[in-house]
Amino acid sequence: MLGPPKAEHRRTGMMSTRMRQLVLMGVATIICYTLISFNSRNFIGHLSRPKDAGTAGLRLTVPQREYPWEEDIPSTTFQWKPCYTRKQCSRLIVPLNYSDPYGEKATIAVIKKPALFPVDSKEYKGPVLLNPGGPGGSGVNFLVGSGDMIGTILGPQFDIISFDPRGVGRSTPRASFFKSDAERALWGEDISFGLVNNSVEGVSRTWARAQIVGKLAEESDTGHLRHINTDQTARDMLTIVEAFGQRKIQYWGFSYGSVLGATFAAMFPDKVHRLIIDGVADSEDYYSNLWSKNLLDTDKALQTFFTGCVAAGPESCAFHAPKASDIAKNLTTILDSLRKQPIPVRTESAYGLLDYARLKGTILRGLYSPYRSFQPLAKGLSDLVAGDPKTLFKLAEPMLPLFECSCDSPKNLREINDAAKAIMCNDGDDVPGDLESAQKFFDTFIKESQWAEVWADGRIGCSGWPKFPKNHFQGPFIANTSHPILLIGNTADPVTPLWAAKKMSRGFNNSVVLTQDSPGHCSLAAPSLCTQQHVRDYFLNGVLPKPGTICSVSTTPFPRKTLDGEEQFPLGQAMTEEERSMFHAIHALSKTYPITAPF
Ligand SMILES: *[C@@H]1O[C@H](CO)[C@@H](O)[C@H](O)[C@H]1NC(C)=O
Ligand SMILES: *[C@@H]1O[C@H](CO)[C@@H](O)[C@H](O)[C@H]1NC(C)=O
Ligand SMILES: *[C@@H]1O[C@H](CO)[C@@H](O)[C@H](O)[C@H]1NC(C)=O
Ligand SMILES: *[C@@H]1O[C@H](CO)[C@@H](O)[C@H](O)[C@H]1NC(C)=O
Ligand SMILES: *[C@@H]1O[C@H](CO)[C@@H](O)[C@H](O)[C@H]1NC(C)=O
Repeated sequence: MLGPPKAEHRRTGMMSTRMRQLVLMGVATIICYTLISFNSRNFIGHLSRPKDAGTAGLRLTVPQREYPWEEDIPSTTFQWKPCYTRKQCSRLIVPLNYSDPYGEKATIAVIKKPALFPVDSKEYKGPVLLNPGGPGGSGVNFLVGSGDMIGTILGPQFDIISFDPRGVGRSTPRASFFKSDAERALWGEDISFGLVNNSVEGVSRTWARAQIVGKLAEESDTGHLRHINTDQTARDMLTIVEAFGQRKIQYWGFSYGSVLGATFAAMFPDKVHRLIIDGVADSEDYYSNLWSKNLLDTDKALQTFFTGCVAAGPESCAFHAPKASDIAKNLTTILDSLRKQPIPVRTESAYGLLDYARLKGTILRGLYSPYRSFQPLAKGLSDLVAGDPKTLFKLAEPMLPLFECSCDSPKNLREINDAAKAIMCNDGDDVPGDLESAQKFFDTFIKESQWAEVWADGRIGCSGWPKFPKNHFQGPFIANTSHPILLIGNTADPVTPLWAAKKMSRGFNNSVVLTQDSPGHCSLAAPSLCTQQHVRDYFLNGVLPKPGTICSVSTTPFPRKTLDGEEQFPLGQAMTEEERSMFHAIHALSKTYPITAPF
């Protein structure tokens, strides 16, 4: 999810256009994890679940070859071809504008992890559609990286499906505002890491850049751009479901995927068989383009870093101090010092500045995924205090190897992230185009949350967007769905507060909010067997948790290690084989964290 656009890269000093593939290995622990970059071109990293249920280790398998999507002949029915590892791919033709069904077409890249049971068996339960957030996140990348683990949670009865939403990645026509990767990368160069007021003229710079991007978007538009929105994507989902021969949807959407899911449920209430929205945004706030209700619990999430570190002790949390308030103070000291004096860093593979903006962005991103990020963040902060900024710098730049420029236009379909801006700005109400409004908005927002510095670009970034007619669905989110929907919220989610899940639930008759008592963004951020058993039961049997259910998590973000470096789990004696493999899948998901973060 969910947040300020990623239409420009904001990474100084190292932008790769050729090898955006990945790969970060957390070698310090035995967990080797891969990140699928937003821009993976030829290969995609892949995680396998450990065969040995006794360890939490993940093996990094051979990178998977990218499927030649451009050679896949699109069709109005699925023509599945093998792709990646044990997946199937197909491009589906849909109307570009559903109000003009015989007009221009779009193609949607769809990927499937097939069910174990044949479609005509009575065990087969149909497809479950996933959306990984963004907006603009690639469902293909998500499924390639996490489909097997999600399949372990849901069970072998389901086809697990995802897709690159229209405008995104391998779906066409695409949102693409630059003539080449090099051009896009160079535009990204001169902006610091996503901070609106990084300098005194920060707000006006952010505003000025939004004017340029709006202009470029307009120039690149062949008439397709206005159709890249959530309303049309919800219709695409129904087309996908119907191409499977089903009448109703089964869906699990994360982060921005909660807006997509709520939109679908409100537009097609009688087409809901199962629908979970997880990491729930306030869709009304999203569609009014305010981005003002995301940060209600961000400080609470940060507080869990401090208290978790205290509880873990210096062995498991390198930035330890005896009191949470001391750790907070120590962090503030670092931030203040970086504001005055950025640190030049050269690592084996990269170089750049470690500055206030970069650290602030890294912390917020870390709050999305405590089980992946808290321990490395603590180590990075403590190394910095000890005089070594490299650990922290590497955390801030997990995805990009050194800049490599191939100045030709890309030939194959792979992900670029211009679509995020297209979806957000098209979906939301028009943002006033003048600088004064941007400044006024920021001044108000920063009083509500210190994280507004990182977040305000969500709205200001749309201030130069072309003015298209706004006649798509923007609410209301009120429906009597054909099966009650399930909403999941974490108690300390940094960008989708539990409040929003409760608010959205009120519009959907008989819906239930399941609370996961954890920090992190979306349920997959923290390993809770309880939560995922409810998810499975919902999909398999249609059963909702009792209203008011609160699920706890099974481990801490600061686990102790055994002597050989393995993570220790308090695994229950009484776990069944199924629970055990489910737990390992959930744990692996919290470590790899597949939800699309916007910066
Ligand atoms: C979609 O098509 C309908 C019917 O032709 C048209 O009225 C509408 O303006 C189109 N939508 C957009 C966003 O152009
Ligand atoms: C950003 O805004 C906040 C709140 O107004 C202020 O405290 C901070 O100094 C600003 N940063 C810069 C670099 O101007
Ligand atoms: C953190 O705070 C404690 C208590 O104020 C202090 O003793 C310690 O030196 C600080 N550590 C760092 C790394 O700043
Ligand atoms: C909600 O669903 C119940 C049946 O489960 C129905 O009796 C009631 O009228 C519905 N409420 C609304 C507002 O549709
Ligand atoms: C709401 O949906 C339920 C279940 O489909 C149905 O029984 C009920 O009549 C609906 N209520 C309204 C007001 O449409």
